[in-house]
Amino acid sequence: MSARKLDGKAIRDSVLADVASGVEAAVRHGVRPGLAAVLVGDDPASRIYVRNKVRACDRIGAYSETIRLPSETATDRLLALVQELNDRDDIDGILVQLPLPGHIDSRRVLAAVSPDKDVDGFHPVNVGRLASGQEGLKPCTPRGLIEILKRSRIPIAGSRAVVVGRSNIVGKPAALLLLAEHATVTICHSRTPDLPSVCRQADILVAAVGRPAMLTREYIREGAVVLDVGINRLVDAAEVDRLLAHAPARLRRFRRTGSALVGDVHPGHVREIASAYTPVPGGVGPLTVAMLMSNTLLAACRRLPENGRSSA
Ligand code: GUN
Repeated sequence: MSARKLDGKAIRDSVLADVASGVEAAVRHGVRPGLAAVLVGDDPASRIYVRNKVRACDRIGAYSETIRLPSETATDRLLALVQELNDRDDIDGILVQLPLPGHIDSRRVLAAVSPDKDVDGFHPVNVGRLASGQEGLKPCTPRGLIEILKRSRIPIAGSRAVVVGRSNIVGKPAALLLLAEHATVTICHSRTPDLPSVCRQADILVAAVGRPAMLTREYIREGAVVLDVGINRLVDAAEVDRLLAHAPARLRRFRRTGSALVGDVHPGHVREIASAYTPVPGGVGPLTVAMLMSNTLLAACRRLPENGRSSA
């Protein structure tokens, strides 16, 4: 039996439709959610990410603005900008696109964002709220994982979840969110002994390590649900031939374009063993921007009249 492919684009569209209705309701109450994206330098990938975030704002009817600063911007200048954005009533969410240039103190900048406007969920106050079960803004990619499971009607409570990867942006918060949903959670990393056998315990397996196709068949339990957060660009023809042997259309595209995206899970093996899985591309990735929109709406709800914070 072939595994069910969890279509991230379709799930993103349903999340965005819900968020757009929420935005419409907020606007009726005089509040248009607003996002400020701060882009320092000219990293091409960061430019594309920020453009996608701004487009998503347009799509849901939110206000957005992008503030572009040169790569030589000083930390103090960036801190002053963040403070201005904290003070503005029309901006509900502040997103400082990472990575920042090396000379900038990223930790100080992220800590300067008001926790109530921290739509990335990176501020230490929000990390603490998440860890202690309090309400707060939560990181987008981990929220996306939960949303995929819920909208696909895959039960989390009582399941055994294994998260491979312990980053602050994905692995750790994903584990905390799964725990909050009553999964029994194990976090693994590069020094976990016998990683394959730990992964084989998982009903829900989350791969967030950043190593192409690392999780091969011996990591996956028959019937597991596999969520692949990795996005790795491959250019080596022999490697692509080996990993995408089951997908002739993708091999043809590789011949045309010279590169192919694969996740952290072996794409040929997962479809043979899992009961459901997220593909790469088109799985977890699309949800990240959708959850950023959801966070922006949540942040804007503070301004609604029923919360006593009306700007009207
Ligand atoms: N760079 C890569 N991923 C992210 C993200 O989720 N948020 C921000 N701000 N920058 C990123």
